[in-house]
Amino acid sequence: MSRSSCFDSTSFDKASLDNAGFDSASFDVIASEVYEHGFSVQASALPLALAQKLHARITSLPPEAFERAGIGRNNTHRHNQAVRSDSIRWLDDSSSIDEVTESAGSQDGAQDSADLSADSEWLRWAEQLQQALNRRLFLGLFSFESHFAHYRAGDFYKRHLDAFKGQASRTVSLVVYLNPDWDEDCGGELVLYRDRDDQSGIQIMPNFAKIVVFLSEEFPHEVLPATCDRYSIAGWFRVNTTGFGRIDPPS
Ligand code: OGA
Ligand code: MN
Repeated sequence: MSRSSCFDSTSFDKASLDNAGFDSASFDVIASEVYEHGFSVQASALPLALAQKLHARITSLPPEAFERAGIGRNNTHRHNQAVRSDSIRWLDDSSSIDEVTESAGSQDGAQDSADLSADSEWLRWAEQLQQALNRRLFLGLFSFESHFAHYRAGDFYKRHLDAFKGQASRTVSLVVYLNPDWDEDCGGELVLYRDRDDQSGIQIMPNFAKIVVFLSEEFPHEVLPATCDRYSIAGWFRVNTTGFGRIDPPS
């Protein structure tokens, strides 16, 4: 497989648009690119129907459903607007398949169960990707956490790593973009640096249904300010770090 396409985000727009369902071929392509290069960028690879549902979901959430993003979760959580200024909403286990099944039969409105089904379909999709990565890369990925992110005009996330060697259980990072008809003039590129010394990086437009996957400890990256609202989901596959005094995943 030619790897040069990895470095040219424009060429991804010519990728095949097989959005009929959960496409195991695209999981395999992602897994083998991550295996070879540590990262993969796939245009229009999230099933279109799922991307549309998630777009409807994220744009219908009221501002108070989001929180100012911090750096890290739980005891490492702190707000640092010098580093990032986006707003996030964690997807949690309450949007699991069981809950959807329960709420579908309850008095909840159709909109609520539609929302939950978008979340649970997303989690199912991510689980399939996790399985493909485990099969191909033997990573032992064990759990997944993700959040919706909304960058308003001017919002940014400065250069960072999602995990640090030795301490972190975040192993693989995943970002999908939920911006129909993203205008290049809006900016808001993800810049993925190949290693700590890389200062130029690869610029990736946040186009609708595009998927970016990379090894969390290896690739510094940043989100450049946009002039338009920018919607995405960021997620992390983790390995199990249960040990003395610590249960994984954290509750
Ligand atoms: C993150 C992140 C990238 C993006 O949330 O950690 O780096 O393109 N997001 O939104
Ligand atoms: Mn990140």
